[in-house]
Amino acid sequence: MSDHIPMRVAVVGATGHQGGATARLLAGRGHPVRTLSRRPGADRPALPGVLVIDGDLGRQEDVHRLFDGATHAVVTMPLVYEAEKVMRYAQHLAKAARESRLRRIVYNANTRMPSGTTRLAAFETRRLAETVLREGLADCGAELVVLRPPVYLDNLFSPWNGPALVDDGVLAYPLPEDSPVAWLSLSDLAGAVAAALTAEGVGGRSFDIGGARSLTGAELAEAFGRGLGRTVEYRPLGPEVFERTLARILGPASAHGVAGVYHFMAGRTEPLLMADDGGEWTKALDTAPAPVEEWVARQPWRTWSERPAQTAEPA
Ligand SMILES: NC(=O)c1ccc[n+]([C@@H]2O[C@H](COP(=O)([O-])OP(=O)(O)OC[C@H]3O[C@@H](n4cnc5c(N)ncnc54)[C@H](OP(=O)(O)O)[C@@H]3O)[C@@H](O)[C@H]2O)c1
Repeated sequence: MSDHIPMRVAVVGATGHQGGATARLLAGRGHPVRTLSRRPGADRPALPGVLVIDGDLGRQEDVHRLFDGATHAVVTMPLVYEAEKVMRYAQHLAKAARESRLRRIVYNANTRMPSGTTRLAAFETRRLAETVLREGLADCGAELVVLRPPVYLDNLFSPWNGPALVDDGVLAYPLPEDSPVAWLSLSDLAGAVAAALTAEGVGGRSFDIGGARSLTGAELAEAFGRGLGRTVEYRPLGPEVFERTLARILGPASAHGVAGVYHFMAGRTEPLLMADDGGEWTKALDTAPAPVEEWVARQPWRTWSERPAQTAEPA
């Protein structure tokens, strides 16, 4: 397949962060994109070139409407960690895919996947969705490609990290200092998804996607320092501290779901879980993510400064 083939792409979660980055990239390249949204129109972000259909993954008929006439689909599971609900969403997606003319589905698992089963919903609900999609699409015309990203750089361009980074040069994150992590930007995620929609010979495969190279905490801080033009120090944050903070925004259940990834990394069972794959995915999908410094330099960090302009260090 090639990117020049016209696609009509159904993107699950295009009003969200991950799906939004993908939908914007695909629509910007001229591909008709549609998505489902439960929100009233006024609460949706601007998505030029994206047809937003009122609907819910929890209703089979809505997922049918989403896939009707689409040639490709991109699936990201929302912030839901109840196994039954995730399974139902995946079943609806698989059934609609079987009964439509979809040629390929790219499933963004939104996390790396430990080699063995864990007790953590963050991993197991995403593994479950992948199994349901894989089994549901077996022997039908639609191919499945699975992408497993590590953590997103964009998590750091946030009210939690932005002010400390800009004003104090502190990068606090709930990952061990010495874990190599292939931090990925949402724009490079979108590039990976677009490539996975069209690359030849990758149907049925899974890729541990990630940034240009793995970085320890200190190396990430150095890369931020170069991008921000100031000294930056990495401070590992306890996953329980992270979970408590997140619970104030997302509520305890979702925060516990999200934090599962970080509790797992703190246990060091698979210290290389978030590392790069040695260049395998970029070769297979013929795409190249940007270095961290480039991403840092592109963000409007000043947005987060809580100090008057003349006293903040230059960023
Ligand atoms: N690896 C990482 O670093 C990382 C970072 C961030 C998030 N994540 C994970 O990725 C997942 C999604 O995160 P996100 O940041 O992209 O989420 P988000 O920005 O909150 O977006 C969620 C999207 O899903 C849609 N959605 C939710 N429930 C739906 C339903 N029942 N039917 C149809 N659409 C539905 C929402 O649409 P409407 O609201 O318009 O209906 C929205 O577009 C979460 O599991 C999160 O933990 C991973």
